[in-house]
Amino acid sequence: MGLLPKNSDGCPYLILAPMEGVGDSWFRVAMATIGGFDEGVRDFLRVPSNAHVPSLAVRYLASEIAPIPLAAQIMGSDLDLMAEMAKAMEARGAPRIDLNCGCPSNTVTGRGAGSSLLKDPDFLHDVASALVKAVKIPVTAKLRSGFDDTSLFKENMLAAEASGIAYVTLHPRTKAEGYGPPANWGLIQEAKKLLKIPVVGNGDILNVDDALRMLDETGCDALMIGRGSVINPFIFHEIKARFAGSDYRPQWEQMVRFFDVYVRQMEEGVPERTKVNKVKQLMGFLFKKNEKLLSMRQSILTADQKEVGQFLEYALPRLAEGLDLA
Ligand SMILES: Cc1cc2nc3c(=O)[nH]c(=O)nc-3n(C[C@H](O)[C@H](O)[C@H](O)COP(=O)(O)O)c2cc1C
Repeated sequence: MGLLPKNSDGCPYLILAPMEGVGDSWFRVAMATIGGFDEGVRDFLRVPSNAHVPSLAVRYLASEIAPIPLAAQIMGSDLDLMAEMAKAMEARGAPRIDLNCGCPSNTVTGRGAGSSLLKDPDFLHDVASALVKAVKIPVTAKLRSGFDDTSLFKENMLAAEASGIAYVTLHPRTKAEGYGPPANWGLIQEAKKLLKIPVVGNGDILNVDDALRMLDETGCDALMIGRGSVINPFIFHEIKARFAGSDYRPQWEQMVRFFDVYVRQMEEGVPERTKVNKVKQLMGFLFKKNEKLLSMRQSILTADQKEVGQFLEYALPRLAEGLDLA
């Protein structure tokens, strides 16, 4: 359990999930200004069979959300290149390396990486084991529950454990299920019974009650949250507060700073229109949090300010009202 230390009041270790696209570096850095999570995971770096590892590796920046640690996630199936990439991540200061065994994208699975590893537990073992042997830092793996179905679930879990990894994170949906049906938390419970290494539970935690229920129903050792943090960037603080026996009231200043940091990371030269649209994309998720916000969604997302500063001046007070900010 050393890698997943509990917080005060018994609150489990909380991890911000990797989310390519939506939860990119801008989002992670903005999230770090709000804080509340114990570790982040960079979205996957794909290591194709013709990869030039040094030029790929520079895309991982260990200090991106410092002082919060950021794990490096890699995806691929060429054992030598994956080992080389793991070493490069270690040299760049990664606190741990996570093997992606879940990405459902066809361009990825076509090459035998990501969720394709779930079709062949022996090969999954070999890839994970190549990483474990290559570095001194902990290696972990993030798995879906299967490729087409869960028939190899146990084999995959045991293969991952036998490779020598430190823990698994389980998002209990198959590749075929995509994001359709609810995550099958029963499989997290099953993994807990099956494995000696810790299991991080992931999938469909959208609020504090979901977090408590997952812990209770599965006995998992730590929690990873993805979409729930885009819908509510304060979710980690809210979970911690519940363990401390209090309620968390988000502050207006935090929200302003969150968007300020997000916008400031956009390169100079990016058209104002693009900046406005990117902020609107992020706000589109925030509106899913509650009814009051949903009723404002249309007017905010169709507002026609052409300059991002003006748009934020218009949108943030409305957002604050809907989120009941202090
Ligand atoms: C837009 C998006 C991008 C994602 N990118 C990654 C990724 O790069 N690596 C990964 O392991 N999982 C990725 N995932 C899966 C999430 O990390 C997580 O397992 C999944 O969303 C379920 O958790 P949640 O219900 O808390 O969002 C992605 C999910 C989304 C929605």
